[in-house]
Amino acid sequence: MANIVLSSLVLIALLHLCGGYKILVVFPVSSKSHNILGAGYVKHLLDAGHEVTFATPFPTNKTTDKYREVDLSKHIEFFDKTVGKTINLKAILNKETKPQVLGMLTQFVDMMWSMLEIENVVNFLGDPTQEFDAVIVEWLVTDAFAGIASLFNCPLIWSSSVEPHWLVLQLVHEPSNPSFNPNVFSTTSSKLPPYTFFERVTNLFSMAAFKAVIYFYLQPKETAMYEKFYKPLFAKRGRQLPPYEEVLYNGTFLLTNSHTSLSQPISVPPNVKEIGGYHIDPNTKPLPKNLQKIMDEAKHGVIYFSMGSNAKSKDWPESLKKEFMEVFGGLKQTVLWKFEEQLPNLPKNVHILEWAPQQSILAHPNMRLFITHGGLLSTTETVYFGVPTIVIPYGADQHVNALRAVNKGYAKMVDLSYEMAGEMKAAIEEMLTSTKYSEKVKELSKLFHDRPVPPGKELVHWVEHVVHTRGAPHLRSPALLLPWYQKMYFDLLALVVVALYVIKVVLKLLFRKGSAIVSITKKKTN
Ligand SMILES: *[C@@H]1O[C@H](CO)[C@@H](O)[C@H](O)[C@H]1NC(C)=O
Repeated sequence: MANIVLSSLVLIALLHLCGGYKILVVFPVSSKSHNILGAGYVKHLLDAGHEVTFATPFPTNKTTDKYREVDLSKHIEFFDKTVGKTINLKAILNKETKPQVLGMLTQFVDMMWSMLEIENVVNFLGDPTQEFDAVIVEWLVTDAFAGIASLFNCPLIWSSSVEPHWLVLQLVHEPSNPSFNPNVFSTTSSKLPPYTFFERVTNLFSMAAFKAVIYFYLQPKETAMYEKFYKPLFAKRGRQLPPYEEVLYNGTFLLTNSHTSLSQPISVPPNVKEIGGYHIDPNTKPLPKNLQKIMDEAKHGVIYFSMGSNAKSKDWPESLKKEFMEVFGGLKQTVLWKFEEQLPNLPKNVHILEWAPQQSILAHPNMRLFITHGGLLSTTETVYFGVPTIVIPYGADQHVNALRAVNKGYAKMVDLSYEMAGEMKAAIEEMLTSTKYSEKVKELSKLFHDRPVPPGKELVHWVEHVVHTRGAPHLRSPALLLPWYQKMYFDLLALVVVALYVIKVVLKLLFRKGSAIVSITKKKTN
């Protein structure tokens, strides 16, 4: 007995000496919500005793001997000027932005690749003393960062900030079947299957079109950039550049920021796990004293209004500010409005918060309603805490999230426009009088929490599993071993077509001979 205790003590001490694994987390998208998702990985892995390096456009500069950062902030301005511009509240209200999908994609892909030119990044990747046990990369449209894991010669773990859709699934498995899996980029994705004939066809064609863009346009472009950027880095380590295709499909695991209570069941291989909600702190932080008091004293409940971090209050038109204020002022409920500027003549029941601890607010028992832009993090948090919503989507994936919430039955949607105040008033009244929305969201919240382990624990488990099994080859999908035409039995189809053709030709010959014989015998009898 003493022996066992002693040896386990030694083992624990050894583990501490080793300091866990060395993990690199790369979340390159210059948007606060993506950064929150990256920071979620960092927190859980640090808490589990690992050493983490975080490549992020939003560095905290609070590094320790266990936590380091690679600063990608050079790209924030660039992002705001390009992709960020298309999700600007004012521009959308004035109908100035027209989504140009291909142009935006190209810009985005170029921007992501050019991150590999940032001096810090070049120095970091070019330093042959850097070593990691695993690299976690957020996938968004581009494959630019897949090569980092190959460079460090360690397993690559993909992270998807949304559900396991076909574009990420094809990296570790195969694209999902569009007849019953929605295409993330189409509005069908807000609907649950079964789909109508038209919806199935739309799914298929939008997927095919996107695939064509990837295959004929993006992939050749990215292959060229891969060679340009990674060749010298591999050379520095005295290694040959592996082929791009090999690097791209070498991912060992995919963790997704999703849960079926928010989307729908999707069939995936065993190396894909949904960990939606991992960014939420299970120990909700206490509210600041003044806010706690306001919420405790709200006899009729609290309405919380926030349009997320990208919709700045400076972009709100004056007329809308005034009309919203009137709508809120006419309510019995206490309204917390997250806004970066104080407004004049504030009604008594309305409080402006320049900074809002959203999770702690949503957790308060007096919460009645959340008015939100429908970003995925806010959507996840509202289901986590069981608060019904009114959604005003204005860009990115928000429309799909909003439609889903409406279809699930816990939300109403209000279209963004200069005339939205009246619609908003009616929606608030409906949400406050009917109990069906809050009943529904509480039911979904139960589903969300009903898991064998909390998502943060699951995250750590699979990252560790990947490292100590050197890339979890036993979980790898066999679908990656064969080309698409074999998977779809096109080779069989080709065989059948050839066989039918041969049969046709043979029959024709026989028939000709037959008829020749017949005609000869006919002639003879004549
Ligand atoms: C493929 O992944 C394994 C581990 O998962 C890694 O050791 C290897 O370097 C990777 N190969 C390439 C070409 O990326």
